[in-house]
Amino acid sequence: MTHIVVVGAGQAGASLCAKLRNAGFTGQITLIGNEPVPPYQRPPLSKTYLLGEMPLDRLLLRPEQFYTEQDITLRLGQPAEQIDTAAKTLVLGREVLHYDELVLATGLTPRRLPASIGGALAGVHVVRTLAHVDALAAPFLKGGSLLVVGGGYIGLEAAAVAAQKGLKVTLVELADRLLSRVACPETAAYFHELHQHHGVDIRLGTSLERLDGDGHVTGALLSDATRLDVDIVIAGIGVIPGCATAEAAGIEMENGIKTDAFGRTTTPHVWAAGDCASFPHEGGRIRLESVGNAIDQAEIVAENLLGAEKPYMAKPWFWSDQYDVKLQIAGLNTGYDRVVTRADGAARSHWYYRGAALLSVDAMNDARAYMIGKRLIEAGKHPSPEVVADPATDMKALLR
Ligand code: APR
Repeated sequence: MTHIVVVGAGQAGASLCAKLRNAGFTGQITLIGNEPVPPYQRPPLSKTYLLGEMPLDRLLLRPEQFYTEQDITLRLGQPAEQIDTAAKTLVLGREVLHYDELVLATGLTPRRLPASIGGALAGVHVVRTLAHVDALAAPFLKGGSLLVVGGGYIGLEAAAVAAQKGLKVTLVELADRLLSRVACPETAAYFHELHQHHGVDIRLGTSLERLDGDGHVTGALLSDATRLDVDIVIAGIGVIPGCATAEAAGIEMENGIKTDAFGRTTTPHVWAAGDCASFPHEGGRIRLESVGNAIDQAEIVAENLLGAEKPYMAKPWFWSDQYDVKLQIAGLNTGYDRVVTRADGAARSHWYYRGAALLSVDAMNDARAYMIGKRLIEAGKHPSPEVVADPATDMKALLR
């Protein structure tokens, strides 16, 4: 009987196993996860779950009995190690597991602050797993002082929850604006203002020199010589793509695990999907960190494992929740040279162009602009920036 082994029990791994059964695969499926919990949704961790508004059972992607019913063997709480791609085996605890096909859905590792500047002190956190966020929940108390390092989406979402919970929040960002890796200056300015309005002290062009404390963090020294008293630190300073176990096995990496359009790595019988995988896209190679990508790519890889030979065509979309603002993003803004704004009351959207080509849209509390932008981009329609910027334009008409 064919045995498909999936390493990584996150969104991509879970979606892939479910799709295999849904598409009629009757062989053996093993889903390996190093976290002790069944696959769960990660995005709410830095949002509603951290706020305490979402219970654990709602975080799980499927109830545990789903895996039993579908005859998917869950092996949780242990990492897969020592992949041998010639023998087609891997080590799990004391066992050696044989695979016919191996899928790597190993996600990402958050970067940590170096131990040499106090990054290993107690009270210094990252936000990626349930365990990370559970460790944060208890010290997240009103009146405490939080230092957020990094003004990307992770840092901003954590800052928003903390400010709402009544913590005193300082955020330092090395670059001269927020969201410098992922969004335009207009979107950055929008969120900067939003956070300032909620009392977050944002320091741009500033980095962390050092954290101090005897065992537990108590203070921070910033690059502008400011000294802060801090009880908690959250590092949202980016991620490390790839998978050390796969790399040690000789599986080729290129901004994460290198795959072709079908999800195959360059090693026979080894595939990859989700945040860990880079794949060909519009003449280049990209890697996406999003739930939408994890699901869509994993489902295509599942079909390809069963012989479909379908190339993956990414339709990128993302979202973030901060305070009462829902940000929805359609498309990829890489290479933009112009941004135009539409605003209508609390609804606002920023449209990214490269020349005459519409690349992506950031919609703040504007689900309509997001939907229309997404459909335009996916259909390859390019209304001119002037038309989009004109408040009189009936956006829906552009879809016809
Ligand atoms: N001091 C201050 N700022 C720093 C430092 C530092 N020492 N090091 C990095 N930064 C800043 C970077 O300039 C950048 O703006 O931290 C920010 C990190 O932003 P991102 O790279 O976007 O990463 P992050 O917010 O951690 O998100 C990582 O996790 O869930 C996902 O959607 C999320 O895909 C994203 C990923």
